[in-house]
Amino acid sequence: MSRFFSSKYAGLIPYVPGEQPRSQEFIKLNTNESPFPPSSRALRAAAEAARRLNLYSDPECRALNAKLAEVYHLAPEEVLCTNGSDEILNFAFMAFCDAGHPAAFPNVTYGFYKVLAALNGVPCEEIPLREDFSVNVSDYVGLNKTIFIANPNAPTGLALPLADVERLVRGNPGSVVVVDEAYVDFGGESALPLIHKYDNLLVTMTFSKSRSMAGARLGFGAACKELIADLNAIKYATNPYNVNGMTMAAGIISAMPGIGELSPLYLACVTAAIAGGSTVCSHFNDSGFWLVKSLVGMDEKTTLKTWTIMETLVGGVGFLVALVISFFA
Ligand SMILES: Cc1ncc(COP(=O)(O)O)c(C=O)c1O
Repeated sequence: MSRFFSSKYAGLIPYVPGEQPRSQEFIKLNTNESPFPPSSRALRAAAEAARRLNLYSDPECRALNAKLAEVYHLAPEEVLCTNGSDEILNFAFMAFCDAGHPAAFPNVTYGFYKVLAALNGVPCEEIPLREDFSVNVSDYVGLNKTIFIANPNAPTGLALPLADVERLVRGNPGSVVVVDEAYVDFGGESALPLIHKYDNLLVTMTFSKSRSMAGARLGFGAACKELIADLNAIKYATNPYNVNGMTMAAGIISAMPGIGELSPLYLACVTAAIAGGSTVCSHFNDSGFWLVKSLVGMDEKTTLKTWTIMETLVGGVGFLVALVISFFA
């Protein structure tokens, strides 16, 4: 640390990103990236957009916002695209937390929440999980703090049913509830439909996992237009051109509808991940490990969503199918 480093950051313990080994001899599990390449159409769109690198990207992300609005049945003013979902999480800490509005999140959950709280000088309460690692929603009702819930949670992979998420949002009418759905495509129910019912709900999503675009850095948030306007105020005060043109172009192609109207590539990737998960879990169970049973809500398959890469690699057939489809998609 230099002698110039602001004392307000003296106690900051930065997030340690998952290691990206240069060698290809490992099966890398630590950052939950997809092993599948992005669709070749997305790559072509990004290459075409690269021809306009001399220009700033569209600060309003109009085309991508419109696409996401169409896919998720939202108005464009209810969407904000960011540089990964980490950025919208940071914006949420900046916009909705302060000494009078501390943050609250589970212990254990995504480690970045604690770092973002410290970065923004926000006091935070870490609420222990139950013994079985599930979130006890009653601990959060009437909390009057800005709540951050990863659903499904990381690294447990356990998901709260939508009714529980709604109880949590309804139970904190004076506070913003942020539902981080980075892994929702692998199981769990999205809280997106609730944003039209509650003005205190922000749902965040990412292109880094099921959409195979971790390196492009693209995330987005959806909420009522007033919350999105607050987040936009923070965005324009920090990084107006936060999403680059190549990422935007690839994102428009890869903005898939949610479960229900799946594209072939997306379906193959997610299915391979879930199928692989079952295989991995049975191997671990046979070896005497105790695994958290995380249900995807559709059937009784045991999945370990936070181990997506291993799951996917073991889902061999699905892996090949997804590779072939990604070539044509
Ligand atoms: C629960 C959760 N939320 C958010 C993120 C951030 O994802 P990104 O910034 O790549 O969109 C991650 C990344 O691993 C995560 O695990």
